Amino acid sequence: MKKKILITGGAGFIGSHVVRLFVNKYPNYEIVNLDALTYAGNLDNLTDVAQKPNYSFIKIDITNEAAINQLFEKQQFDGIVHLAAESHVDRSITDPLAFIRTNIIGTVNLLNAAKNQWNGNFEDKRFYHISTDEVYGSLGKEGMFTETTSYDPRSPYSSSKASSDMLVRAYFHTYNLPVVISNCSNNYGANQFPEKLIPLAINNIKNNKPIPIYGKGENIRDWLWVNDHARAIDVIYHQAKLGETYNIGGINEWTNIDLIHKLCEIMDKKLGRASGESAKLITFVTDRAGHDLRYAIDSSKLQRELGWKPSLQFEEGLEKTVDWYLANEQWMNNITSGDYLSYYEKQYKNR
Ligand code: NAD
Ligand code: TYD
Repeated sequence: MKKKILITGGAGFIGSHVVRLFVNKYPNYEIVNLDALTYAGNLDNLTDVAQKPNYSFIKIDITNEAAINQLFEKQQFDGIVHLAAESHVDRSITDPLAFIRTNIIGTVNLLNAAKNQWNGNFEDKRFYHISTDEVYGSLGKEGMFTETTSYDPRSPYSSSKASSDMLVRAYFHTYNLPVVISNCSNNYGANQFPEKLIPLAINNIKNNKPIPIYGKGENIRDWLWVNDHARAIDVIYHQAKLGETYNIGGINEWTNIDLIHKLCEIMDKKLGRASGESAKLITFVTDRAGHDLRYAIDSSKLQRELGWKPSLQFEEGLEKTVDWYLANEQWMNNITSGDYLSYYEKQYKNR
């Protein structure tokens, strides 16, 4: 069936993988990619789909209520997959308001626009909000986040995402808006902006620069290959029960320091360095304020109800990721010659 789907944040890391999957898998869907092209948005991520007949791009900031309303007056959407967000915890510590504006107000602008456009005719309509496991807070050594774990966000980033999740739920209960939410663990893979741990470390190892590890590197994250997240988003968009939340994760917990040692081993091999050479770059720096100790996500509901499971083992995914960054030097150079350089100098100056 012909459908028009608005994907927000499609020029970013995860969004670009979702856009690619939907454009290629559903030639009968019209995919509209809406993105403000902030420092994290990069149309280089989508050169392979840019010319496809079922793809279009529109530059709008979701905090601009009038522009969002105008778009929804001009175009009718069957579905919205909402990924646009400020996404980096460290930036949220230095500039919380940017996160409040985009993640909370921007989300409400989209919810209102969808509500007004659909005007109670919700058949075959979907508002799918992409969120994070960070809304659940921080775990001790035991346990996992399930869909019923109470929200306990602890950074401005996770608090703004938690607020947006709550508002999406409120629109389901108050206005019957046909919403779905998913909360995913840490993603890794091609096209991730090099402020995040894995691409930052790959880039620094390659350039023989220190690899900054916050605190003692004992914090634990659950890592999922971005393509597996995109597959989960596809399954959830098409099959989820309305009003439901699904956790998405890799069942793949690593301390930061073990992960970086694994990455150093792979990089030694790929760069023809002696074993142990890259690990010499590991540098412990001042910890992140309020650094959550551990995230672990139970995705059994998604596996049981919708049949999704991760496709890749972490070592294989990490190696593919390293291969991608080494083969796409120009992508990285285009980023590191811009905004990222001044961010990097500020962020790591005193550490
Ligand atoms: P990203 O920072 O790489 O991309 C965000 C995109 O949103 C960029 O293209 C940016 O230009 C766009 N954007 C930002 N502000 C905007 C605005 N005001 N208007 C329009 N566009 C705007 O982020 P990501 O890592 O791809 O994350 C995408 C979504 O997935 C986010 O909602 C994030 O909270 C969620 N998420 C991310 C992870 C992860 O590990 N990266 C894990 C779970 C959930
Ligand atoms: P990050 O990629 O920023 O994701 P998140 O904070 O959303 O989990 O960080 C992943 C982990 O790596 C987190 O525990 C913080 C840590 N980290 C470092 O040790 N050094 C760094 O330079 C960065 C960016 C992150």
